Amino acid sequence: MIDPTRGARHYDVVAFVGSLRSGSYNRMLFNNVRRLSPANMAISELTGWDEWQTLDVDLLNDGIPDAVTAMAQRIAESDAVLFVSPEYNYSIPGGLKNGIDWLSRVSPQPFTGKVVGIMGASTGAIGTARMQYHLRQVLVFLDGHPVNKPEVMVGRAAKEFDGEGHLVSEFYRTQVTELLENLARQADRFKD
Ligand SMILES: Cc1cc2nc3c(=O)[nH]c(=O)nc-3n(C[C@H](O)[C@H](O)[C@H](O)COP(=O)(O)O)c2cc1C
Repeated sequence: MIDPTRGARHYDVVAFVGSLRSGSYNRMLFNNVRRLSPANMAISELTGWDEWQTLDVDLLNDGIPDAVTAMAQRIAESDAVLFVSPEYNYSIPGGLKNGIDWLSRVSPQPFTGKVVGIMGASTGAIGTARMQYHLRQVLVFLDGHPVNKPEVMVGRAAKEFDGEGHLVSEFYRTQVTELLENLARQADRFKD
């Protein structure tokens, strides 16, 4: 757990869940994240990005939509961002990438200096590893600070959740807890 001796700091984390599918394993993983998060960490999901038009730079001439600006503001105010996403065709799902692209056009760019946690679940063997490394690459350009370890990659997801959507393995539950701890530690380091 997060060290209580570090005072009463409260962590405000905003999260993207990259799957819109009913019954999504990534939604289940996110629900586990919420259950396992420490009492002094609030995790709020950012929603609505899936309704944004496909980014066409001509649209920027009409101004950034209010919903994009508002989400960028929410990210900027947060202590950290968490991505919980599937892997599509070895990469970031297109809808989520479109959302990131829109947000990246807001000034100041909201991911700059932001601490970022990444995790994902897939039915494939290596649990979104390739998506995660593509997202890390995107974050280089956006000047974010992804947490390096642990890499939470829930492979063969159909076997990893019980009927109530709980992670069945202690291994992944521990990994989720450790990633949240490291997210908080890194947020401390990068504060100001
Ligand atoms: C368009 C598409 C592409 C996919 N590509 C991959 C892939 O590259 N690697 C992988 O492990 N699974 C891939 N899958 C399978 C997903 O892991 C699986 O659909 C998973 O359940 C998606 O996450 P969700 O349950 O949160 O929706 C793909 C699925 C779709 C729909």
